[in-house]
Amino acid sequence: MLKIGVLASGRGSNFQAIIDSIKNGYLNAEVILLVTDNRDAYAIQRARDNNIADLFLEPADFKDKESYYRRIADELLTRGVELVILAGFMRLVGKPLIDAFPLRIMNIHPALLPSFKGLHGQRDALAYGTKISGCTVHFVDEGMDTGPIIAQAAVPVYSDDREESLSARILKEEHKIFPYAIRLFSEGRLRVQGRSVFIEGETGKETCLISPELT
Ligand code: GAR
Repeated sequence: MLKIGVLASGRGSNFQAIIDSIKNGYLNAEVILLVTDNRDAYAIQRARDNNIADLFLEPADFKDKESYYRRIADELLTRGVELVILAGFMRLVGKPLIDAFPLRIMNIHPALLPSFKGLHGQRDALAYGTKISGCTVHFVDEGMDTGPIIAQAAVPVYSDDREESLSARILKEEHKIFPYAIRLFSEGRLRVQGRSVFIEGETGKETCLISPELT
């Protein structure tokens, strides 16, 4: 069974989607620990409701970014975590964590990368006037939203969309592709070659999702 560590900063609906996927048998995994950088994150409540250990670490209590991520890496490594999930973790992850889990950290981003990286993927896509946006699951490297792409889902952008309506449409797809990408990882079916991620035994079509509104 795959041992997962989750990092989250807020609401934690992606964390919940992972918990639900484990509960209903879609994912053969266990969440060992939730780490948050925000003592008020609703994700903490979700962990407690599901008997998952949680740990709040205040970045300001550490002397620098390196020591913060060294501590997170240590907490995850001592518990035997095999895959780290960034589920709405709103910080650029530091090198000690990336080095401790090479190609073992996944992030979900609310835009079709490489477009609209950063903290406001949905708002930036709207402001740019794109007609299609979506979400991306990718491995994390040292850049901001730059690691190898595992799966993407596309959604329409309507002319009357606001940030909230577009975000909600994208979020629905996030809740599907994140557990799907984790499942592929847990089955040992992801092969990374340079920037490309290949899915063993598949053409790759399964990792290009289209929301129902676009079909
Ligand atoms: C999600 O939309 C996720 O894609 C985004 O934050 C939201 C978290 O929601 N992440 C980023 O923007 C990372 N740069 P959640 O807390 O309900 O999962």
